[in-house]
Parts: sequence; C-alpha cells; structure tokens
Amino acid sequence: MKNVIEVENLTKKYKNKKAIDHLSFEVHEGEILGLLGPNGSGKSTTINCILSLLNFNEGSIKVLGSEMSPNAYDIKRQIGVVFQDVAVFDELNVYDNIDYFCGLYIKDKEQRKKCIMEAIKLVGLEEFVKYYPKQLSGGLLRRLNIACGIAHQPKIIILDEPTVAVDPQSRNNILDGIKALRKKGATIIYTTHYMEEVEILCDRVIILDKGKVLAIGTTDELKELANIEEKVTVEIPQLSKEKLKEIKNFPHVDSISYQNSTLSITYKKGANNLVNLMDYFKKESISYTKIYSERPTLNDVFLELTGKDLRD
Ligand SMILES: Nc1ncnc2c1ncn2[C@@H]1O[C@H](COP(=O)(O)OP(=O)(O)OP(=O)(O)O)[C@@H](O)[C@H]1O
Ligand SMILES: [Mg+2]
Repeated sequence: MKNVIEVENLTKKYKNKKAIDHLSFEVHEGEILGLLGPNGSGKSTTINCILSLLNFNEGSIKVLGSEMSPNAYDIKRQIGVVFQDVAVFDELNVYDNIDYFCGLYIKDKEQRKKCIMEAIKLVGLEEFVKYYPKQLSGGLLRRLNIACGIAHQPKIIILDEPTVAVDPQSRNNILDGIKALRKKGATIIYTTHYMEEVEILCDRVIILDKGKVLAIGTTDELKELANIEEKVTVEIPQLSKEKLKEIKNFPHVDSISYQNSTLSITYKKGANNLVNLMDYFKKESISYTKIYSERPTLNDVFLELTGKDLRD
C-alpha cells in the first residue's frame, strides 16, 4: 500500500499552547481518511501544517514521497483544498469562480472548460452556473466552494468540514460527490465532527482530541473499542420499577434507563439480547410499540476513550 501523505510526530504550538501534540498518521493512496474530532481538537491546524501554511515546532510531513515545504509548488499543484470558511469571489458568477481557481492550474481553455463542467455536475450546480454567490443558499455556496477546490482534478483532495450548516439535500449531494471523486482515483482527507458522516464516507478514521490521535482504524475496528456492544431501545407506555429491576439483572446488561416511555438498555456483549427481552415481555404480558437494536456509535467510542461526548 502506497502512502500519499506521511505525518510523523507533528507538534504545533500557538504561543505556549500545544494545538497538535506528537501526531503521527499516514494517508493511503485512493482512500478517504476521516479526521473526526470535536471543536478545537486540531483538525484545521493539522491540515494547515500539511499544506505548509503554518510552521510547526516538531516533526515531519511528506507528501507524495517528498518533504513538504512552502515552496514545494510541484506538490501543491497536486492538492485540492476546500477550506472550512467559504472563500469565493462575490463579483464572479458560479462558472467564473470555478474558472478562476481552475485557471491557476490548467491553462488550456478547452481542457479547463471540460474540468469546470465536470465539477459543476459533480456538485449538482448545473442550474446555477450564472448565479452570483450572494444569490445562493448556504448549501449551494458550500457546493460552489467545493467545486472551486477540486475542478483541476488533483490527486489529493483535502476537505475541512465541508458540510457544516448545510441542508440535508446539499449534504447528501456533497457526500455523493466526494465518493465519486474517490472512484475517479483521488486520495481524500475529510475532517468533520459529524460521526454519521465518517461512517458513511470514510475507509479509515482517526479520532482526534486535544491534538492527539486517540485511535485509528475502520469504523468497525473503532467500534470494537467501545465498552458496549449493543444498544436496545424500546417504546413502552408503562413499566414498573420491579420489572425494570428484573431487566437490569439480565445477562450482559451494562446500563438501563426508562424515561418518557422509552426504555434504553446497553449491553456489554451481543447475541440474543433482543430475543431474551422480547420473550420476557411476552411472558409478562408487557406491551410495547417499537423495539430496535443498534451497534455502538463512534460517539460511544469517543465517550469510552475520553469520558466525554463528541459534541460537548
Ligand atoms: N491562530 C491561532 N492562535 C491561537 N490558537 C489557535 C489558533 N488557531 C487555532 N488555535 C487553537 O488550537 C486548537 C486547535 O484548533 P483548530 O482550529 O485546529 O481545531 P479544529 O479541530 O479545526 O476545530 P473546529 O472544529 O472548531 O474547526 C484550539 O484550541 C484553538 O483554539
Ligand atoms: Mg477547524
């Protein structure tokens, strides 16, 4: 497996405060790597170090096999970046904005036009090519921001929280677009604090907190780290304290709560928990309206590793 980016022992301080603390990871060719972490965990700082926009105190960063530096223009040409804050020109319409950014890399007019049209299609802005940024909704504006960053079809694409505060339709469109970019062969770093997104999108995930790697792996591998293996939720209009106590003593039960007609149980181990519970309800003639089982989420993993929620 080829490493497209290698970050080793990266430490970055702002004045005396460590934002990144001995961070090491690799990005494999052709993968979508998720950087998942709460606000202030160091996602943007990591990206800005990779891009050589920031100096760092310790460590090394290699991109496409070479040491990254502010003057490494050959490498920079191969990278497309979509920054956290939207950065487009208010004076230019959708097409001309993308044309401007793409023109920094691709001089040939015909080739550039082809790339721009592909980018517009990828983010679903076909109906808005003549619109100016101020006429676009927040979601459409974010899609334009993405099109500007990726139109030149770079080998490496870095997206910093591209779906913050977008509507569900734009979010789906953006996630589908990113999957399409991987299919075309791009290597992608995707930062977010939405665990649902990394589950849908990423081949591997790094959980970041306070500038440190807490865990790296596929979503399934990370979920192995959670203290619990299964969560069962039941909607029950009525449940007595005695019955609740009995359920608490069932095998594998880790925690139990009953609030607003919802019974929530976490189990330390899987297998047969749901069946046992349903058998018990039948035997005791307890009626319920809904019952479902879930695997732990990445938030449960984060909770296990840090003692706090991802979205504190
Ligand atoms: N220019 C700066 N000067 C001083 N401290 C900074 C600066 N930029 C970031 N920090 C601090 O460094 C830490 C990491 O910030 P960073 O922006 O990299 O986090 P993030 O994971 O991208 O957060 P968010 O989800 O809010 O975008 C935070 O504690 C932040 O306050
Ligand atoms: Mg950030």
